[in-house]
Amino acid sequence: MLPKVHNRAGNLTALENQSNIPFEIKRVYYLYDVPGGEDRGGHAHRELQQFIVAVSGAFDVLIDDGINKKIVHLDRPYIGLHVVPGIWRELLNFSSGAICLVLASEKYIEEDYIREYQYFKKLKGYHAG
Ligand code: TYD
Repeated sequence: MLPKVHNRAGNLTALENQSNIPFEIKRVYYLYDVPGGEDRGGHAHRELQQFIVAVSGAFDVLIDDGINKKIVHLDRPYIGLHVVPGIWRELLNFSSGAICLVLASEKYIEEDYIREYQYFKKLKGYHAG
């Protein structure tokens, strides 16, 4: 639960390095105009930490450590999901107009991505299949 400053003119949520965000933010990006039925993500990271917020609309985040899968529904701008390295994630079921804000602990490094699920399982020490 993130801080929410409320007054009659609306709400404001502020995020700061190493206080409500548990790492130093080096990059911010956001996903928007995701067509209905399209999925994003579908990868894991070696080092990157991310903090994901549905700043508008809603979507599901499937998180998978190689054994257990869980779906987290994000639909509030004052709720964030901290995704640590070594977790497979997929972003699913975007509502119309949804905006997915991602705060990241590193700049964009393609080599940090693990994009193949069976390879992810292998790195985690689990047999394919
Ligand atoms: P990708 O991370 O694969 O998208 P998603 O996981 O949301 O489906 O990134 C899609 C494209 O955008 C890819 O070509 C790389 C580019 N990109 C950047 O240039 N900078 C960034 O910070 C990110 C996250 C992606």
